[in-house]
Amino acid sequence: MNVLLVGSGAREHALAWKLRQSPKLTDLFIAPGNAGTAALGTNLPLKASDVEGLTRAAKENRCELVVVGPEDPLARGLVDRLAVEGIAAFGPSRSAARIESSKAFAKALMERHGIPTARTAVFSNRTDARNHIEGLGEAPVVKADGLAGGKGALICDTKAEALRAIDMMMGEQAIFGAAGRTVVIEERLSGREVSAHAFSDGRTTLPMPFSCDYKRALDGDEGANTGGMGAYSPPAWLDAETAHAIDEGITAAAVNAMMDEEVPYRGVLYPGIMVTPDGPKVLEYNCRLGDPEAQALLPRLKTDLLEICLAVASNRLHEVEIEWSEQACVAVVLASGGYPEEYQTGFPISGLAQLEEDVLVFHAGTALAEDGSVVTGGGRVLTVAALGDTLTEARAKAYRNVQHIHFSLSHYRRDIAAPAQEARVQ
Ligand code: AMP
Ligand code: GLY
Repeated sequence: MNVLLVGSGAREHALAWKLRQSPKLTDLFIAPGNAGTAALGTNLPLKASDVEGLTRAAKENRCELVVVGPEDPLARGLVDRLAVEGIAAFGPSRSAARIESSKAFAKALMERHGIPTARTAVFSNRTDARNHIEGLGEAPVVKADGLAGGKGALICDTKAEALRAIDMMMGEQAIFGAAGRTVVIEERLSGREVSAHAFSDGRTTLPMPFSCDYKRALDGDEGANTGGMGAYSPPAWLDAETAHAIDEGITAAAVNAMMDEEVPYRGVLYPGIMVTPDGPKVLEYNCRLGDPEAQALLPRLKTDLLEICLAVASNRLHEVEIEWSEQACVAVVLASGGYPEEYQTGFPISGLAQLEEDVLVFHAGTALAEDGSVVTGGGRVLTVAALGDTLTEARAKAYRNVQHIHFSLSHYRRDIAAPAQEARVQ
């Protein structure tokens, strides 16, 4: 079977690596891919947002399944467009992807179905939004309704800051464009964050192990928000009762709510959760795998990923038994110096051949130079992932191997899955 995989990050390299292990796979195409995916299949020079181009490529290359990595093509209706051509896809329809692409939709869904989340108000009028903030007791979190590349949530320390956030989103500046025309203003939650993920075919929900990511650029959760600087799985601090409350009351509850409302959810559902003193609450729902969570989860997956994707796409997930390794996994992101702000690219990357045999390197912002060598080509350059019998072993192995990889101005966090970090209570 030929498969088209959409996306270009380390998450997609990890997906490609896992799909390649399937005996069912013939040719793998990746659009647009990176220097890492080029070793596992054929990269196609198409943007992940190019719905028509991707549909054409799937037809021309006789792909029977399209696996979609990022949220953008899902929100643009790639899965719906492929369905018109009779091509199966792993990922939600445009309507179902609204669980991520419209925070207002997700909030209303949670409210209708009693799913725990922060208290929220939604506004499309700037004056009303400002008045609401003036009347609050505490500074809120202000979020753009639509997709804003993971940067749409502004945690405000004062009400004045929240008012400025409203003006920047809803005023002339419109920092998030159309995505910020409607805003969600919500109560600030405190606690510890955890990422839940599950496969779903609309009816059956099969949870993956839990994981945690690190969004800030610098050690100790300092610095700017990034796409994610590292991840680990599993979090030993999460107790069984809370895990159960998340699986049932947040993950399966959303899948069931979508089915109730006749928008069946197929693909990966990834609720971002705050474990508060009052129990777990939803920060957001995502309609795809997390990046870098995928790089810490997929190495633990023992079952054939292609079989799972096919079962999801054909509503047969109840027939599949998914097995996960008991081992822990730690994933460390190497970024270009300056990321997430300005950074330079084109630096040669050395040391990739010097790693321990079973250590995984998932490329993101990499490119092949004319002489075939690998050079940097983006903000997050690659992820090093290692498995171990304990989190401590996995962590030591990941960092031992990170030391071997060099490129000019590289930057990585040194505290991914560190004991102090892992045991930290915010
Ligand atoms: P989101 O894009 O909604 O996931 O938000 C990005 C990040 O902002 C989350 O991972 C949290 O760290 C933080 N965040 C979002 N909503 C809240 C909230 N209501 N209270 C506290 N932190 C939040
Ligand atoms: N790990 C954050 C995200 O993928 O949205």
